[in-house]
Amino acid sequence: MHLFTILALVTEALTLNYPEQQAFIGGTTSYSVQTPPLDTDWTYEVGTDPWPQYPRPKLARSPWQSLNGIWTYANASGQGALSNPPFNQTLSQEVLVPFCLESGLSGIQGANTIYSWYRTTFTVPPKWTGDRVLLNFGAVDYEATVFINGRNATFHRGGYYAFSVDVTDYLNGRQNELIVFAFDPTDSDQHVISIGKQTLTPSHIFYRPCSGIWQSVWIESAPTNYISDLSINGDASGQGTNNSIATHSGTAGSPITFNVKSPKTWSPDSPNLYDVTIRMGQDTVSSYTGFRTVIREEVNGVQRISLNGDVIFPFGTLDQGYWPDGLYTAPTYEAMTFDIKMLKRIGYNMLRKHVKVEPALYYAAADELGILIMQDMPSLATTSLPNKVQQAEFQRQLEILVTQLRSYTSIFAWVIYNEGWGQITSYNPEFGLTDIIHELDPTRLVNSVSGWFDHGAGDFSDNHHYTNPQCGSPQHSINSGPFDPSRLGFQGEFGGTGHNVSAKHLWKVKEAIDTINQTYELYETLDAWNFRGHFLLSELLFQVQLYSCAGAVWTGTTDVEGEVNGMMTYDRRILRPHVQKWKADIQALYDASARRSDGPTPTAS
Ligand SMILES: *[C@@H]1O[C@H](CO)[C@@H](O)[C@H](O)[C@H]1NC(C)=O
Ligand SMILES: *[C@@H]1O[C@H](CO)[C@@H](O)[C@H](O)[C@H]1NC(C)=O
Ligand SMILES: *[C@@H]1O[C@H](CO)[C@@H](O)[C@H](O)[C@H]1NC(C)=O
Ligand SMILES: *[C@@H]1O[C@H](CO)[C@@H](O)[C@H](O)[C@H]1NC(C)=O
Ligand SMILES: *[C@@H]1O[C@H](CO)[C@@H](O)[C@H](O)[C@H]1NC(C)=O
Ligand SMILES: *[C@@H]1O[C@H](CO)[C@@H](O)[C@H](O)[C@H]1NC(C)=O
Repeated sequence: MHLFTILALVTEALTLNYPEQQAFIGGTTSYSVQTPPLDTDWTYEVGTDPWPQYPRPKLARSPWQSLNGIWTYANASGQGALSNPPFNQTLSQEVLVPFCLESGLSGIQGANTIYSWYRTTFTVPPKWTGDRVLLNFGAVDYEATVFINGRNATFHRGGYYAFSVDVTDYLNGRQNELIVFAFDPTDSDQHVISIGKQTLTPSHIFYRPCSGIWQSVWIESAPTNYISDLSINGDASGQGTNNSIATHSGTAGSPITFNVKSPKTWSPDSPNLYDVTIRMGQDTVSSYTGFRTVIREEVNGVQRISLNGDVIFPFGTLDQGYWPDGLYTAPTYEAMTFDIKMLKRIGYNMLRKHVKVEPALYYAAADELGILIMQDMPSLATTSLPNKVQQAEFQRQLEILVTQLRSYTSIFAWVIYNEGWGQITSYNPEFGLTDIIHELDPTRLVNSVSGWFDHGAGDFSDNHHYTNPQCGSPQHSINSGPFDPSRLGFQGEFGGTGHNVSAKHLWKVKEAIDTINQTYELYETLDAWNFRGHFLLSELLFQVQLYSCAGAVWTGTTDVEGEVNGMMTYDRRILRPHVQKWKADIQALYDASARRSDGPTPTAS
């Protein structure tokens, strides 16, 4: 109660713009995890030194220092607050970076955190003197203005993307003050921005939003001329880089292409990766790549996906990437990779990362562990269709998505639109956006429209249907139009069968529990749920054998809030599938696809 009083005073002080008094009002509420509506086995292991791993394995520099940990935070009064940043003041509450303000792990667990101040201080190691100091953010949702020692260092828009700024000229040689102003309207007012499944009014398949700093923050030292970006691609023939005992030189800013003799290719079953070291002048960064080629081709009259020359049947889950304690941020690295390992254990070779973008470490883990990723663009708020300016911003961020993630080996396809969300249908912008992606990244497939308004763009004829699949089959959802055999027959979503587990494993928010009855099918026991799963997988198998089914996505990896259809509950404590049975059913899909791609085309009777 005492703490509440302090908070109220500080908020008032902010609103009244008396920043010089703020620092002296009663001190700062210290950090503790706020009990989330559901925890995980990792929640209370996070401590106050979260995510200590080096955050950017694709372009890694050794002199670095994490700025994750306890910062201070205050709810800001509005955009106008930017004209009067709280320099040299300790803010009202401690916050754990990098966990979104709505999460229990942040220590805030706030609502309507639209305008926010963050503050920390840091000193630069003396041995970095003479070099540049770069400040890096993994992601801040949705806009960030960054101040160093009272000066505006940079501004960034887009909730899912990394950004860096050279702050050398703003540093003072002592303790430096870092302040971030974050603005995240989510789906309020007339904002139509890229938010994925976040909403200020969660209901069933739309969830609690994530605001502010939600990925690692760190500083690093680099020479005056440094490598600021790297795009790396290895194909199955060995084009792209030399192996780790070899060197090759080229010019920065233009592609360097060379051959490696018989590289071990990358696939989900053998995720071989090669270390790469890049030197430019005084700068050295380490990276890695895998060698793989993904194409679409007709095999025995059916459009198929091939990986390194062999037909593959990508079968994965719809993967939302949400955590009950950290929301967009997994509590720990171990927790994050737990999901991927579990999917592999059940037999999946793929996941569809659904309208969310993960931290770089996630994609590196997928490369290492071996799982294909179909990567969605985070969808726009669906309150209304985007106007011209909003559509241009969507396109700009789509280009950033592809540019920032195209070096990861595991990604095999991009998705632009999901189920018509934010999709303008008056002039079909998916055609132009598909061309842009093919230009930025000619090494992957494009699923222009996953579900609903398909006008023929891209590599996939993707159908969503619940609960049973209609994959490359004559039966097709009305919204998607008939199956188009000139493109890949794909089931972008099916399954979604629910199991209302005991209250203990539910997200204890009444509004969420009240929407559980919207689940397509709800089973009372795991035996019944598994039986139904087997039936639906058998139906998919039949479609692989008879029709043009080239891959499919089961909904989903975990429960999220009021959505109770996961392989695992939201807390990851209950695994629903009878693993051996599912594994056998999934293997049957792979085998059926392989048989039809090898042997003669079955003759229709
Ligand atoms: C922040 O302030 C807004 C009004 O400006 C209020 O609606 C919201 O509840 C506050 N959030 C927190 C976490 O204090
Ligand atoms: C913060 O305080 C320090 C030490 O008094 C001072 O040098 C600096 O100018 C102040 N920063 C701002 C933005 O006022
Ligand atoms: C901070 O600088 C950026 C340019 O880097 C500019 O777009 C933004 O408006 C500035 N913000 C403020 C509050 O001055
Ligand atoms: C690859 O590495 C080998 C061994 O160091 C070297 O002899 C060869 O020239 C390199 N190839 C290319 C194309 O750079
Ligand atoms: C689901 O449950 C809620 C809350 O009990 C109720 O208001 C709603 O009518 C139910 N909806 C359906 C489809 O049964
Ligand atoms: C799901 O389980 C919760 C907790 O036991 C219960 O409150 C809720 O009514 C159930 N919902 C449905 C649709 O069965």
